[in-house]
Amino acid sequence: MNTTQRGRFITVEGTEGVGKSTNIDFLCALLADHGIEVVLTREPGGTPLAEELRNLLLQPREETVSSDAELLLMFAARSQHIANVIKPALERGAWVISDRFTDATFAYQGGGRGVDVKQIELLETLVQKGLQPDLTLLLDLDVEVGLKRASARSAPDRFEQEKVAFFERVRGAYLKRAENDPSRFAIVDASLGLSEVQAQIAGAIKPFVEANHG
Ligand code: TMP
Repeated sequence: MNTTQRGRFITVEGTEGVGKSTNIDFLCALLADHGIEVVLTREPGGTPLAEELRNLLLQPREETVSSDAELLLMFAARSQHIANVIKPALERGAWVISDRFTDATFAYQGGGRGVDVKQIELLETLVQKGLQPDLTLLLDLDVEVGLKRASARSAPDRFEQEKVAFFERVRGAYLKRAENDPSRFAIVDASLGLSEVQAQIAGAIKPFVEANHG
């Protein structure tokens, strides 16, 4: 029987300016070197409709956005992303690397905005139907250092306009999730030099690549 092995689902998380993009490029190149087909995607976004929702979510605006509206838009985008990109890719055996996923909702809407975790869990169950990342790389960095890096890059989006205290809560929520689920999370110290950060990422990915070849 010709059965295709399901691909691996890897997510990359962290607060602003931790170096996600550079390290995701490194990760994709590393997997490609092992002959693995990689689909690189991001949240919010990843499909035409979800990218439109991303623009709506990130655009600074005068109207106050309620925490629930923000939460529901994140999960609307995610539902579309799972159905049209993530699931089909995993089913055909490709590996999916997503620049953020639901841990970001627990960190930003839960930790940052104070949305009840139980409400997020309800939507997670509804939208993901059991889908979870196999590995989550959490790039961890002092919030103020990251914000300085991010602000040197571009004008602040609606989230980047938040104060330091908001991002401290986001970071705290990420670290707590990692602590509660150590078998899925790898915490990467993003304050280290690039080669050391990449060595940590390579170390975290190694068992998955070895299992793929085994
Ligand atoms: P980024 O692509 O630059 O990381 O921007 C995405 C922003 O959206 C970032 O500030 C985090 C935020 N976000 C949430 O608040 N909740 C979510 O569920 C996701 C996926 C992202």
